Amino acid sequence: MKTCIFYGSTTGVTEGIANRVAKLLSSDVFGCSEIEKAKDYDLVILATSTWGAGDLQDDWDSALGKMQNVDFNGKKIALIGVGDQDSYGDTFVNGMKNLYDVAKSKGTTLIGTTSTDGYSFSDSTAVENGMFLGLVIDEDNQSDLTDDRIKNWIGNLQ
Ligand SMILES: Cc1cc2nc3c(=O)[nH]c(=O)nc-3n(C[C@H](O)[C@H](O)[C@H](O)COP(=O)(O)O)c2cc1C
Repeated sequence: MKTCIFYGSTTGVTEGIANRVAKLLSSDVFGCSEIEKAKDYDLVILATSTWGAGDLQDDWDSALGKMQNVDFNGKKIALIGVGDQDSYGDTFVNGMKNLYDVAKSKGTTLIGTTSTDGYSFSDSTAVENGMFLGLVIDEDNQSDLTDDRIKNWIGNLQ
């Protein structure tokens, strides 16, 4: 399965996670401004951090517009959300939900949902039917768990 990752990242944390995942998957990785390149891949992974009070990372604002012009027919989508559950526990990784809504409107198939076990937060729009919509990483509070979370997620992706 030809795979690529597109990320939006303000201070480089999500960019770093995208690169770590890409290395393990031997996949391509781009900033989200290059989202048009998604047309060449079977599995498209979208990664974002969350800012403000539950807002999608800024780079995605214009990238989502471009995404509307990409034909996602037959493609699979997986999501990565990066956030801080201690300081922003009531909007934890909400940005992932914005990406999901657009991906869903494009008729894609979502893969790679994950359990919320091991996280401590009060609310997140990125939880559906008791599961996170994708891989959730918290480098601010749980960086020691990141390697295992990435590996487990990748193991369940294919
Ligand atoms: C002002 C500010 C607002 C934030 N808002 C949220 C939030 O609403 N939800 C969340 O999960 N994380 C929030 N975060 C945490 C960031 O998403 C987190 O630090 C992330 O690692 C930043 O990744 P980036 O460098 O790739 O953008 C916020 C951080 C800051 C400084």
